[in-house]
Amino acid sequence: MDDAIIQKIKKIVSGNFDKSFDHYQAFEERHHFFADLTLRLAAACGLEKGARVLDIGCGNGASAEVLSRELACRVVGLDLSAKMIENGRQRIKDPRIRLEVGDAVDPQSAIAGEELNFDAALYNAAIFIIPDAAKSMLAASACLKPGGALGFSFYPQILSAAGEDLFAIAFDRCNFPRPKAQVITSYEKALAGLRQCCRKVTETAWERPFSETFLIDFFSIPAQSASLFPQLDYEERRRRAPELFTALQPEAESARIVWRLAAGKV
Ligand SMILES: C[S@@+](CC[C@H](N)C(=O)[O-])C[C@H]1O[C@@H](n2cnc3c(N)ncnc32)[C@H](O)[C@@H]1O
Repeated sequence: MDDAIIQKIKKIVSGNFDKSFDHYQAFEERHHFFADLTLRLAAACGLEKGARVLDIGCGNGASAEVLSRELACRVVGLDLSAKMIENGRQRIKDPRIRLEVGDAVDPQSAIAGEELNFDAALYNAAIFIIPDAAKSMLAASACLKPGGALGFSFYPQILSAAGEDLFAIAFDRCNFPRPKAQVITSYEKALAGLRQCCRKVTETAWERPFSETFLIDFFSIPAQSASLFPQLDYEERRRRAPELFTALQPEAESARIVWRLAAGKV
């Protein structure tokens, strides 16, 4: 991807997250979702108690907070969105957590002064919005000690019992145009990037039952709604999200939301 396009995408992404920190926080207080996903990613990475973790795309600190609270990890987080970081710093007063503004492609600049011997680098719900994801994972690997873990959790799939993509079905039922791509970096590309850094990569998934409420709340966060309706303004995106997921009521009993995870050791 051309560098000018990468920079343009990053500007849009950070702008979307700058507008999202309060929605994001309200969502997390209601669902404890990013914290739960982080613990699953930590388990996939084989993270031990007291580990030193680099949290790339740390948002306003939900992932860092749960790693410190549940696993006594020391976490250095970095994020492109200055507003997410500012909100995280105001909210979290934990000496084990440091949050910095920075780009995933150059973690070393953002975390100046830190020893580059982290036990793990995690991308919780972040890798798919990083256009230069493979380059970022190489840079993250250089921050790890030998044998350190690298892993990501990915954008959700909504699957029918037969494995059909229910996002596509919902868009068609509502006569909404399908977005060209819901993610900036595909799962396959992210996986190839991870394989470039790790000896062996393990893929797992966290499956949850379909929940209209959860999906509406998740995709009402400004930054998440942009992945479904990239051309529309936020008010219209927010109006369409409930319509989209209500259209899946016929499948609600048997559908599942699938979060794919992948991890390996460098
Ligand atoms: C869905 S949030 C996840 C936040 C956090 N990991 C958690 O679990 O709560 C994704 C975050 O990735 C950040 N992000 C996107 N692209 C980035 C980049 N190139 N460098 C650093 N952070 C980035 C966004 O600003 C956003 O805060």
